Amino acid sequence: MPAADNHRLSFDEWDEQDNPIQDIQFDTVLSRRYFLLGTFALGSLYSFPGTSGMNSPGIPSPMRNKITFEPVQANSLDTVTVPPGFKWHTVVRWGDPLFDHVPEFDQITRGQPSSQALSFGDNNDGMDIFRIDGKNVLVVNNEYVNLGLMFGNNPSGLPKTPEDIHKCKMAHGVTIMEIVENKGRWEISRDSPFNRRITPETPCMITGPARGSDLLKTKHDPDGTTVLGTFNNCGNGRTPWGTYLACEENFNGYFSSSAGEDMPRTDEMTRYGIRNKDWGYGWANVDERFDLASHPNEPNRHGYVTEINPANGSCRKLTALGRIKHENAEVAMAGDGRVVVYMGDDERGEYLYKFVSAKTHDPSGMNEDLLHDGELYVARFSPDGSGKWINLLQAGLGREYTLVFTRIAASRVDATTMDRPEWVAVNPNKVEIYCCLTNNAGRGKNASQPLNPVNPRTGNIYGHIVRLTPTREEHGSADFTWDMYVMAGNPAGHRGIHAGSPNINEENMFNSPDGLKFDSSGNLWIQTDGPDTNEGDYEGMGNNQMLMGNPVTGEIKRFLVGPRDCEVTGLTWSPDKKTMFVGIQHPGVRGNSHWPDGGDAVPRSSIIAIRKDDGSIIG
Ligand code: FEO
Ligand code: CA
Ligand code: CA
Repeated sequence: MPAADNHRLSFDEWDEQDNPIQDIQFDTVLSRRYFLLGTFALGSLYSFPGTSGMNSPGIPSPMRNKITFEPVQANSLDTVTVPPGFKWHTVVRWGDPLFDHVPEFDQITRGQPSSQALSFGDNNDGMDIFRIDGKNVLVVNNEYVNLGLMFGNNPSGLPKTPEDIHKCKMAHGVTIMEIVENKGRWEISRDSPFNRRITPETPCMITGPARGSDLLKTKHDPDGTTVLGTFNNCGNGRTPWGTYLACEENFNGYFSSSAGEDMPRTDEMTRYGIRNKDWGYGWANVDERFDLASHPNEPNRHGYVTEINPANGSCRKLTALGRIKHENAEVAMAGDGRVVVYMGDDERGEYLYKFVSAKTHDPSGMNEDLLHDGELYVARFSPDGSGKWINLLQAGLGREYTLVFTRIAASRVDATTMDRPEWVAVNPNKVEIYCCLTNNAGRGKNASQPLNPVNPRTGNIYGHIVRLTPTREEHGSADFTWDMYVMAGNPAGHRGIHAGSPNINEENMFNSPDGLKFDSSGNLWIQTDGPDTNEGDYEGMGNNQMLMGNPVTGEIKRFLVGPRDCEVTGLTWSPDKKTMFVGIQHPGVRGNSHWPDGGDAVPRSSIIAIRKDDGSIIG
C-alpha cells in the first residue's frame, strides 16, 4: 500500500525534496554578465502607458470587446465571488455521472471504481469546448486526485484496497461530455453519444520521431508504438483542425520500485524526478506497469502532449513536441502556414519551448499528422531584452534521445532556467506570447539557478509574467525581444522588488500566476495557484483568484475570487461567448472548505459557468 508520509505533502512539496540536478552553466555566465553591467534596472524591463507600449506605432486597437466590471475585493470566503452584474452556477462536480445508469456521487463512499470510470474525474484543469454536429462538447483534463478527500472515509486518508487504488486511477485522465443550456443553466447531457472518459488505461498511439524507439519499448509493448493511458494532464491546447491537446505534467509521481532503495537510478530518471517511491497513489501495487523494477522504460512513455479527437476519443502521444512536465500547449500559426506550439516545463529551473511543424496547415484538410514532425526549440533570454530559440538538435544527442530526454538536451544548449513556466498564451490581436513564471523559492539561493535577467528576484515567492515578441511579427522567427508584463508582489507589505511592478497595487495584488488565456477579444485572463493564507507576505491577497489584464496598458483587475484551499485553473467560453467556464480545483484540500454544496458536504473540484445578468458577451 502507499507510503504513509508522501501524500501529506502537496505534489510540488514532494517533488521539490528531490529537485533534479541541473547541469547547466550558461545561467552563471549570464548572471555574472548581468551584475557586471552594474544594473538591476527592473523598470527598463516594463512597457507601460507613457513608456513604450501604448503609444507605439503599429499596435492595433487593443480590444474589440473590452469587458467592464467593478473589481472584486480579496476575501477568504468559502464561495466564488464575481463582480456585481455577473452570476455563476456549478456545471459539473467531481463524481457527477455522465450516464443515467451510473449512481450519483455518494458522500460516504465517494464512489466505486466502476462509477468513477463513467463519471467526471477529479481535479479539473485545462478545458475547451468543441462544436460537433451542432452540439457543445466540453473536453476537460482531470489532472490528479486529492487522496485525503477521495479517501477521507478511511482513517489514514489513503487507499486501503486494490479497489480504492483502481478508483483513484479512474478519476485521472480526460472527460469528454456534451453540455446543454437549460433555462440559463448549463449541465451535462447525460447519455450523449459524445460522453466518454479517457483514463490511465485507454490505449494511445505513439507518434512522431520517437515512435518505435528502444527507449519506449516495454515487455507489454515490444514495438514501442502504443501506450496505455494519459494521466496528470494539466493545461491544454486546441488545434485549428478541431483536436484537443492534453498536457502530461507530473507523471513521475506515479512510479515506484519493488527494489526499494536498491533501484538503479539513471541520470535520466534523476533529471525527471523518477524515484523508488511514488507520491502516495500506490498504482504499482495493483498494476506492475508502474513498478520500475519490472518496467524501467514505462516512465519514458509519459510526459508528452496527447492529441485527442473529441468526436471519437482517439488519442495520440506527440513525441515530436518533447518530453517534459508539460503545462499547456498554445498553438499559433507561422506566416507560411507552419504550426507553432509554445510550451512550458513546470519545474523550478526548467525551460520554455516552442515546436514548429515541418508541414504547413491545410485549412481544407484533416492535418492529422501535422504535429508528428517538426523542430523543437528552447528559449535563451539575453540581458539586453533580446532572445533566441535554440534548436535542440544542436545538443548533438540525436533526435530520438532529445525527444525522450528533452530536458537534458536543453541544458546542453545553454537554455535559460526559468521560475517554473506554467501556461503560455498568444495574443490574438498582436504577434506576442505571454508566459506565467509561477514562483521559485530557490531562485538565487541554488547554485544551479542564479539570478538571470528574466528571473531577477531572489526567492521569487510571488511570480511574474514575461512577454515575448517574435521578430518580424512572425511566430516562425528564431529571435524575439522580451519584457515583463507584470511582477506580482505585495506593495502593502514590501517596498522595492517584492512590492511588484507598477501595475500592481493594494487592490489587485495576487501571487503565483498559473493559468493564462486570452479571450477572443484580446483580454488576458490570469488564474492563480499560490499560498492563500492571507497572512504575512500574502496578507491582503485572500483566496486564489482570476484577474483580467489589458495587454496594452498593463492594467490588471480582479474579476473572481475562488473558495478556500482551491486553485483557479482552466478557462473557456461557449461558442456565443455569453458564458465563461472557469475551473475550481481542489477546494478544501487542507480541510477548510465544503464548496460547492456547503453544509457538511465533501468539497469537490468543479467547473462553474459565469454569465452577465444582461446576457451580453463575456469574452
Ligand atoms: Fe498542473 Fe504546473 O500546474
Ligand atoms: Ca497549472
Ligand atoms: Ca501551479
